[in-house]
Amino acid sequence: MEKILLVDDDEMNRMVIEMVLSEVGYKVVSASSGEEGIALLSDARFDLLLLGFGMAGMDGLETLERIREKPEISEIKTVFLMSASQMADTTEALRLGAIDFIKKPALPGPLIGTVRHALLTQDRESVLAVDDEPMQLMATEELFGIRYRLRCASSGAEALEEIKREKPDLILLDYHMPEMNGLEVLRRVHKIEGCENLPVVFLTAIDDVDMEAEIFKAGAMDFISKPFVMQVALQRIRRVLELKHLQDSLQDEVNRKTRALQESNQKIKKLSNQVIRALAGAIDAKDSYTNGHSIRVAEYAREIARRLGKSSMELAEVYNIALLHDVGKIGIPITIINKPGKLSEEEYQIIKSHTLTGYEILKAISEMPELSIGARWHHERFDGSGYPDGMMGADIPEVARIICVADCYDAMSSDRSYRKALPQSIVREEIERGKGTQFDPRIAEVMLQMIDDDKSYKMNGSRGQVVLNE
Ligand SMILES: [Fe+2]
Repeated sequence: MEKILLVDDDEMNRMVIEMVLSEVGYKVVSASSGEEGIALLSDARFDLLLLGFGMAGMDGLETLERIREKPEISEIKTVFLMSASQMADTTEALRLGAIDFIKKPALPGPLIGTVRHALLTQDRESVLAVDDEPMQLMATEELFGIRYRLRCASSGAEALEEIKREKPDLILLDYHMPEMNGLEVLRRVHKIEGCENLPVVFLTAIDDVDMEAEIFKAGAMDFISKPFVMQVALQRIRRVLELKHLQDSLQDEVNRKTRALQESNQKIKKLSNQVIRALAGAIDAKDSYTNGHSIRVAEYAREIARRLGKSSMELAEVYNIALLHDVGKIGIPITIINKPGKLSEEEYQIIKSHTLTGYEILKAISEMPELSIGARWHHERFDGSGYPDGMMGADIPEVARIICVADCYDAMSSDRSYRKALPQSIVREEIERGKGTQFDPRIAEVMLQMIDDDKSYKMNGSRGQVVLNE
């Protein structure tokens, strides 16, 4: 729970603020004078100080001045409570490092908003002042040194070194400097890795009408022209820093959301793959002889696609499409699938229907429309004599042409209900013979290369599953 110290000599005001802030979950400790407040601050850790401006005796400014002199409590974030007339000049309060102001009497909405924002504001931000005139640097240090952690550099080169040593939250930059002017410094700063969006505010005498445009074009966040009003300068710097913090937290949020989205996409992808594998397993389990057929066909098809130079995304797609090419067999009676002898014409027609049944099943998965392609067209033949549509040549989707070769290869190289796996040389001859008639010659050629590379006939269905390239 965040702890707030409230220092004000107006009892009614203290009661109201304490009540409002306690209600929204802050722990509030009250003091009725500056002295009492300093004593409490020295005794315990607080996250924020709400300080009455015009208190009797030691007023708010004097209290804050004393706090700033005590190193152990000097960093406390401070918000002043002020009447409307006191708010006319906040220069000294800002110089002493006040983060914000609350107008008295404090209304719950603005009070809670200001406190929340002040608690989110970072501790004293670091500012790098760059100016070639020592007097000017001294004046800047005097004016901004209490509010910010100020470092100074007397030239562009020195500034670049300082930034590389420790990145500041903001740069106050002079325009007219010998050797490297402010504009050049700005360009070089934004080229440093991690400093691409580092806020730069020009603090300079504008003596050229085009200079202002040039400064903004180069990527400056603001410029303060000399001579300037202290209060205005402090407010403008504060605004720039607030904007930067907002941008950073927005970027963090975008990054977080993007990561979450990527993780959830990964999960969905993993789940889809698991469902596809489970479905392929269910098809293969139906056929006691060809167990593992779908996975083997998917492996061969992926290897063919790899040798055809497909991308890794395409390989994953080919694999999944091939895994489900026979999904329509789910609708075929087990007695027909596992029949040892020759099929009757009627039974053959039923077997053939697995292409269209598979297509209808997979078409329903609208998020992955490509899945249905393999199921429908893997029994098409290159010469147009296949089924179910009698498509020909390049009209048959390439993935179906790949699966066709892989499917026939596995049918021949694994045991069937009516025969044992064929010898590798016979399988090779059959693939060779089917070039241009049953198979796309280019794809059949790739399959032939795979057979030739497989000297000991490892690519056969005897072990249920074949894992290539692992
Ligand atoms: Fe099939």
